[in-house]
Amino acid sequence: MCGIVGYIGKRNAVPILLYGLQRLEYRGYDSAGIAVLEKEGTKIIVEKQVGKIKDLHEYLWNKKIEGNVGIAHTRWATHGPPTIENAHPHLSQRGTIAIVHNGIIENYLELKESLEKKGFRFSSETDTEVIAHLIEDEYEKDLLNTVLKVTKKLEGAYALGIISTYEPDKLIGVRKGSPLIVGVGKDENLIASDIPAVLEYTKDIIPLDDNEIAVLTAKDVKLLDFQGKQKEKKILHVTWDISIAEKSGFKHFMQKEIHEQPRTIADTITGFSSQDIEKIFSKLKDISRITVVACGTSFHAGLVGKFWIEKYAKIPVEVDYASEFRYRDYIVDDKTLIFGISQSGETADTRFAMLDAKKKGAKTLALVNVVGSSLSRESDFVLYTYCGPEIGVAATKTFTAQLVVLYLFALKLAEYRGLISEKEFDQKYRNLLHLPTVVESILKEEKEIKNIAYNYTKADDFLFLARGLNYPIALEGALKLKEISYIHAEGYPAGEMKHGPIALIDENMPVVFIAPKDSLYEKTLSNIQEVKARKGKIISIATKGDKVVKDLSDETIYIPKTKDELYPIVSIVPLQLLSYHIATFLGKDVDQPRNLAKTVTVE
Ligand code: AGP
Repeated sequence: MCGIVGYIGKRNAVPILLYGLQRLEYRGYDSAGIAVLEKEGTKIIVEKQVGKIKDLHEYLWNKKIEGNVGIAHTRWATHGPPTIENAHPHLSQRGTIAIVHNGIIENYLELKESLEKKGFRFSSETDTEVIAHLIEDEYEKDLLNTVLKVTKKLEGAYALGIISTYEPDKLIGVRKGSPLIVGVGKDENLIASDIPAVLEYTKDIIPLDDNEIAVLTAKDVKLLDFQGKQKEKKILHVTWDISIAEKSGFKHFMQKEIHEQPRTIADTITGFSSQDIEKIFSKLKDISRITVVACGTSFHAGLVGKFWIEKYAKIPVEVDYASEFRYRDYIVDDKTLIFGISQSGETADTRFAMLDAKKKGAKTLALVNVVGSSLSRESDFVLYTYCGPEIGVAATKTFTAQLVVLYLFALKLAEYRGLISEKEFDQKYRNLLHLPTVVESILKEEKEIKNIAYNYTKADDFLFLARGLNYPIALEGALKLKEISYIHAEGYPAGEMKHGPIALIDENMPVVFIAPKDSLYEKTLSNIQEVKARKGKIISIATKGDKVVKDLSDETIYIPKTKDELYPIVSIVPLQLLSYHIATFLGKDVDQPRNLAKTVTVE
């Protein structure tokens, strides 16, 4: 996830671009840069810095760059580490085109190869640079037509901002899969990834849809589809206060991040295969055991991963708290894989556990969200989730993305070990593609879930119960509730309830069951009966249409039917919403709960 902004008008573009970048910093802050067309329009000046927008600001302070047309970018690194070379904007070989990009060009290697054959030299490791060279290569007297031609060659998701010395009176914005809006001003126009970036200059907005292009001059905005057909769109007048707009209209970052999951799940599914699969799996196929080390939510993801890896790759998996693993006499050898899972890639317990095991001869693999984080640099191999920055302290979108990667990891390892065929992998990969739609439909039930939440704000304790693959989801549901609402909650395997926790149940105890119609459904049903017999309040997450569970429960939240093994990825979503709404009804600081930090860099 990155932020882009562009300006064309009568004023100096530089301060306007910097202001816009600051409003988009939540989208990434690894590096930032601007490109401005010099007044005569014959040269594009590009300036970049690694780090936050304020570093770029300070760097530009005495540079006195001026121009009325420009683009800018704040980067959240995906392809290539955060360096000046990889920072945007990117220039074409002869410096005629500058481009900023948010998204991923999936076929960039192919495009790069053919451009290299034509003599183009690349100065970054990004997927973006190909676009600048392609436009320069294809340009024939008309920038818009060239951009239209180039979009046909690009696969993946992108929002682009483009300026050129060929036609210095134009700023072009393109959207396919990544957000882009046009800000319509008086004698000036803007593009940006999000509304806050333009609010200072205009409140008249045109949000672009996928496969749309905007051609901006100082006086005019022309909208077209990818076939070049002109479109008319209504201007939206926003009356937003800037602080709300930064959360894109959501009350908290956590709520926004819960709602981002259809996109982050989709990005992580497609991002998986863009990684160095051959290098990772050819080296890992002969390992004999795996120990997952992680903390908090990432630990819960590891527990689900164990089921998938043992089922498909047939390798025994242990899952250990990183803070415990390191301090016991664990046994590893060069056939042991220590698999560290961490959103931030900076959690001290996880880092030091991995470093210690590596020293003792184990192989190490990190699954992280933050590109360039310590864990990703210190491990032998890395896999990524593609979620963009997660700002809310409670992990939400990164958890579901971790599950997606763990599932694909298990299947890929099985394929490399000859346990499933490539065709079977593809079939299961395709099954994942409906998950964003499933999650979308659960998110539509938010109002209903909010009503349920209201009824439980006075509870002092909660139990979360589930079986099998969904048992870690019970743990995660309890953690979410604890950390943001400060209500005591415990997660248990439902079958374990009768060995102790059942003593807690009375008419004041809400018990959340994750009870999808999977192979353990009947067993879970018996546990629901046991709670009902003791007058516990039952809140069930059940498969759509399940009347039996509904009749036994005080509250039922339906989720759509999916493959048994994929339920954990979707059944957590209503629990995230339930915790969120209980906490907001209680007036808690949801994004920054007391005593917690997003990244725990102390042991
Ligand atoms: C999750 O909601 C928590 N804030 C916390 O448990 C977190 O998952 C844990 O600190 C691990 O963080 P990491 O994934 O960045 O390593």
